[in-house]
Amino acid sequence: MKAEMLRTPFFLVDENKLIHNLEILKSVSTCTGCRILLAQKAFSMFSVYPLLRKYLDGTTASGLYEARLGYEEFGRETHVYSPAFREDEFTELLKYADHFVFNSPCQVKRFAGRAKAAGKGVGLRVNPQCSTQEGHAIYDPCAPGSRLGTTLEEFDESIAYMLDGLHFHTLCEQDSDDLEVTAAAFEEKFGRYLYWMKWLNFGGGHHITKPGYDIDRLMKIIRHFQEKYRLQVYLEPGEAVVLNAGYLECSVLEVVKNGMEIAILDTSAACHMPDVLEMPYRPPLQGSGLPGEKPYTFRLAGPTCLAGDVIGDYSFDEPLREGSKLIFEDMALYTMVKTNTFNGMPLPSIVYRDGEGNCHIEREFGYEDFKKRLS
Ligand SMILES: Cc1ncc(COP(=O)(O)O)c(C=O)c1O
Repeated sequence: MKAEMLRTPFFLVDENKLIHNLEILKSVSTCTGCRILLAQKAFSMFSVYPLLRKYLDGTTASGLYEARLGYEEFGRETHVYSPAFREDEFTELLKYADHFVFNSPCQVKRFAGRAKAAGKGVGLRVNPQCSTQEGHAIYDPCAPGSRLGTTLEEFDESIAYMLDGLHFHTLCEQDSDDLEVTAAAFEEKFGRYLYWMKWLNFGGGHHITKPGYDIDRLMKIIRHFQEKYRLQVYLEPGEAVVLNAGYLECSVLEVVKNGMEIAILDTSAACHMPDVLEMPYRPPLQGSGLPGEKPYTFRLAGPTCLAGDVIGDYSFDEPLREGSKLIFEDMALYTMVKTNTFNGMPLPSIVYRDGEGNCHIEREFGYEDFKKRLS
């Protein structure tokens, strides 16, 4: 089936583009011996886990549900990190996760004994207090007052003997020069503990599959830690796994005017691509230009009641009209996992385009999906 025949809106994930990214990631793990995990928070389309499993070493989870999904659908290694684990979920989590990363010495004291007794790895997320991001404070785990990771001041040496590994995650869509700065700050603060560790996890936020990313520098940093401290380095990218590998295809429902032309779409920023509003950013749209660049400029907006449900202003060669199809790009990451049914908005279907260009509907949603989240 061709994508043009499908009812919009739908997310489409493209196998060839996915494989392109996976091969880059695999080359990093093969060349360095590091292990790469899928951060499911960015992408949990489990119907493609059998493909991902051929290239990646496992998954990382943010809690019980993602850990279970990774364990049941992906296999290989399952890691889990949470800012605070819950007592009433921990026993079940022990069934799914191989490695637990705790956020504080207190959580280590509370849970590590049980994890160890079950033969699990135990790690601590540390906060190297080194911000390398500009602009997006909500994505900066090193921002002042952050709850994410233990600072050196709060590090309690008495728990060090319980730890198999350390974890830091500080980056968001960044190149390896920022990793280098972070890794140096981390090593200066926590390096002396690494001699006792079996592994070190560099977290996510590495834009490895973005054209121009400096992979050689990444590999140099990985080798430095693995050779100096004789440990296993893990990376847990989410975004890099599916970067530019997915689309959100939608249709124009209606065009209205209010000082400018406004196209109301059958997709919503608030419900289907909330990062557009949260981050915020302007998603790439096939065949479009900046406002005024092409002859016809339109504001693209969602059909919800939220006044700010606006995707952005774009220009086109031809005017948009009811039924015009639009394809937003780079829509695999942090979209499907973040959708919601505010206003009773239907969820976009999930479609997979195989290597031959045939589209398969993996999942369609209906009224029951909206209703069953309510009471
Ligand atoms: C602990 C942790 N690991 C991995 C990731 C994945 O990051 P990204 O999708 O930017 O690679 C995140 C993202 O927030 C994270 O918080």
